[in-house]
Amino acid sequence: MSIPSPARPAGKRPAAILVGFMGAGKTTVGRILADRLDVDFIDTDVEIVRRTGRSIPDIFTEDGPDRFRLIERNVVADVLATHAGVVALGGGAVTTPAVREALAGHRVVHLRIGPEAGYARVSGTDRPLLASEDPAARYRELLAERADVYGSVATIEIDAHGDPEVVTDALVDALAKELIPERTR
Ligand code: S3P
Repeated sequence: MSIPSPARPAGKRPAAILVGFMGAGKTTVGRILADRLDVDFIDTDVEIVRRTGRSIPDIFTEDGPDRFRLIERNVVADVLATHAGVVALGGGAVTTPAVREALAGHRVVHLRIGPEAGYARVSGTDRPLLASEDPAARYRELLAERADVYGSVATIEIDAHGDPEVVTDALVDALAKELIPERTR
């Protein structure tokens, strides 16, 4: 299945870019989707670690969140310009205005997750933004703060609560529907 991106000339454009809060399943669903489309998968968090040779918690702790967002923004810009497969963005990437601008015209999928299900998936992991006395409360607060921003960049909304294979089925259906107007143009 080949998926050209909307409103973009042919070339190296991601087939789909997954956004959503921590625990939405961007990496898991992204891998499955890339597999089904027979394209490569890139997770920008993994790319940040590869390029800097440092872990994300180390960058946050040693350099601070602003520096992390700057590195992230540059990595996202490079990946969007050069990668033709599926891309997963770190959950906070869309809080950077330049990232939101860079997403314009791309096929952007919001994997929507609620506070209980999402927190259950990330509880006990080393997400630096959840390093708090009450990580569950911090998760809920951040999710509420960002609730609108994911929708503002998305061209497709997918409920991400189910099994990742089933979530990917819904995503593949939505991608196919989104392509129908292009085919009839
Ligand atoms: C972050 C989400 C993380 C990672 C970093 C910051 C965020 O990615 O980029 O810890 O601000 O929501 P995941 O969404 O893959 O957990």
